[in-house]
Amino acid sequence: MSMAAPEPKANMGQSVPRYDAVAKVTGRAQYAADVPLANPAYAYLVTSSIAKGRIDRFDLTVAKQVRGVIDIVTHENAETLKEPKLSSNGGYASTTIQPLKSPEIAHEGQIVAVVLAETFEAAREAAHLVKVSYTAAVPTATFDSPGTTAARAKGQLSQFKEDPAVGDFAKAFEQAEVKVTASYETPTQHHNSMELFATSCVWNGDSLTIYEPSQYVYGLKNAVADQLGIDADKVRVINPYVGGAFGSKGSMTPRTAIIASIARRLGRPVKLVATRDQGFTIATYRAETRHVIQIGAGSDGRLTALRHEGAEISSRPDAYAVGGTKTTTRLYACPNVASLVSIVRADRNTPGFMRSPPEVPYMFALESAMDELAVKLNMDPIELRRVNDTSKEPIGGKPYTSRSLLACYDEGAKAFGWANRNSQPKSMSDGDWLIGYGCATTCYPTQMAPAAARVRLQRDGRARVEIAGHEIGNGAYTVIGQAAAERLGIPFEKVSVFIGDSDLPPAPVAGGSNSTASTCSAVITVCDQIRRRLFKALMPDENLVDKAKETVGLAQPPSTQAAQSDRPLDLDRAFDALGVSVVEEYGEWKPEGAPMDSFRAMHKGEVRMVGGDKMSDKIAYAFGAEFVEVRVNRWTHEIRVPRIVGAFAAGHIMNPRTSHSQLMGGLIWGMSSALHEATEIDPRYARYVNDNLADYLMPVNADVPSVEVIMLSEQDDHINPAGVKGLGELANVGTNAAVCNAIFHATGQRIRKLPVRLEKLEA
Ligand code: MOS
Repeated sequence: MSMAAPEPKANMGQSVPRYDAVAKVTGRAQYAADVPLANPAYAYLVTSSIAKGRIDRFDLTVAKQVRGVIDIVTHENAETLKEPKLSSNGGYASTTIQPLKSPEIAHEGQIVAVVLAETFEAAREAAHLVKVSYTAAVPTATFDSPGTTAARAKGQLSQFKEDPAVGDFAKAFEQAEVKVTASYETPTQHHNSMELFATSCVWNGDSLTIYEPSQYVYGLKNAVADQLGIDADKVRVINPYVGGAFGSKGSMTPRTAIIASIARRLGRPVKLVATRDQGFTIATYRAETRHVIQIGAGSDGRLTALRHEGAEISSRPDAYAVGGTKTTTRLYACPNVASLVSIVRADRNTPGFMRSPPEVPYMFALESAMDELAVKLNMDPIELRRVNDTSKEPIGGKPYTSRSLLACYDEGAKAFGWANRNSQPKSMSDGDWLIGYGCATTCYPTQMAPAAARVRLQRDGRARVEIAGHEIGNGAYTVIGQAAAERLGIPFEKVSVFIGDSDLPPAPVAGGSNSTASTCSAVITVCDQIRRRLFKALMPDENLVDKAKETVGLAQPPSTQAAQSDRPLDLDRAFDALGVSVVEEYGEWKPEGAPMDSFRAMHKGEVRMVGGDKMSDKIAYAFGAEFVEVRVNRWTHEIRVPRIVGAFAAGHIMNPRTSHSQLMGGLIWGMSSALHEATEIDPRYARYVNDNLADYLMPVNADVPSVEVIMLSEQDDHINPAGVKGLGELANVGTNAAVCNAIFHATGQRIRKLPVRLEKLEA
């Protein structure tokens, strides 16, 4: 065992190496754009240089003279596709802005033409020679630009039904002994996955195969079929590996149906690999947000009043909002709570999901304000979380299924050496470097959605698992294989896993950190069907359930699968009794509280996600405590982060190795969201400026010398058969606040607008 593959603690699976490790490091893993096609046409996008206005005309004469050009598709000759519906409003699409439909321009970087050529190089050259004449209007870029419109999110969005509130905030705040009122801001960020937004479309008669990196193959399949007006059974999406996604590949972007329609018209495969800068505008991003937090507390630190107001940028046509108040109003005990989320429209592409969409900006505001309150109270910030800890969320009074927040603070503080902190700001230094220690809470909802699986078990003890899950770097192959191995009582090495293909049984979007919980629960359910068949053959006259319970623990609590290998099934005897050599089962699983139409919806690529705060009689979240040391140079104000410690509890840990990687990556991204990452917008043109990996600042190894991940044992039997809470989006929450809290401790300066750059610190 190593740091990267920690020794499992209670209620953790084994740290088996990644199922896909060898394929990836040897280059055998085939990503969408790697798939060889017979006689493809290459597509290259032309995008709008204005953010608002209309196209007057195209001059394609020179472009068409480039040798190898096949066709140039614009709104003047494109096929009319059905209008898509936004995914966060009950549809499949990342945006309702439909390129190549009309001359209207809704945002900078909108697709205005697609050049098709015999080679990529010819398509690119011709694309640069396409001349577009526009009539441009003055666009509205962001907050404070003239022309924005703001409205309450509630009522605009099907997925944003309430502004959580309880008690009488105004009165309680007025009467509070200690008060904090502060405003915070977070910037635009783009996912910048390593894998670009590629799409290859291949028609065979009236059947379409799409090779595209996707977090949701069933969603994409149904979405494209819908836009093209064909039967979803005629569409297959294949993507065994996704080179990073972080939310950007969860909903259908406009490019896919466009490329499919062009391929149909040309009668040959079409391959598109959009460029890095085009990815900034043809897909989604994390929108900039603003917050006002008001906290009232007693002199003992107990919260008496909390109000969180958030505003988020969206596009003109689409109401998109992450609405993180659902989390921030429920985290700490407080009898009087109010909240309000607004959507502010500008001439921008539609934003979308990006790793922990609600929690990254909203928890930054809350956890910064909590630190400000601790300072005002002259109270240790961990102690402040302790006195406000709660086993019931304050809005609906529902109990947390489990909550190990304080245990995370205890373990994290010990590992970090929090006790060595002098609570006075500017009190710790090392030569020219001011030292600051900061901490913050992270939490993320435990979410699950219906899923199906097919499992085949052979007499020789080998198994094959099929489920349309997604390997987005999350370790999906590995944990799905582990779930089957543990439940069937066979070695991990004997399990083959097939995912990333819409011809496999449906799994939900790999988003909202639900994948491991949903896919493993489905796999466990189907493995139990197989066990039941084998038991029935072995013990035809027995009461199956009782017998199974005492023999091999069919109805065991979710966390003790490992115990089953103590009593392995006698496969030879079971298969003899059955009279076959292979058993195969298909099964569908739905979480408690999922609606009646769950399974129908699942096959149609519609997610019925449950969990988090949406459960009827309880609430389920994973928690963590994060600690950051910063060093700020006294003279240059350069900010360094020599170390981060995060302690997390997320129910059953399927694999400490893959979980460790997820959490470590999250901490680094969380730190980066405080200090590095921001998409700069030119307010005059509503245009992204640093739309490349050279200018979009991301952390490198030298930015994070030490990142320590601690995983606590936690057992939760109230969430799903896998006992898994999910942790893909847990660690990058709150880190931004912990960094700013540490900067305050080092310098006495409170930075409320991200990212923190050295010019924001005063002498
Ligand atoms: Mo994630 S933003 O839920 O893909």
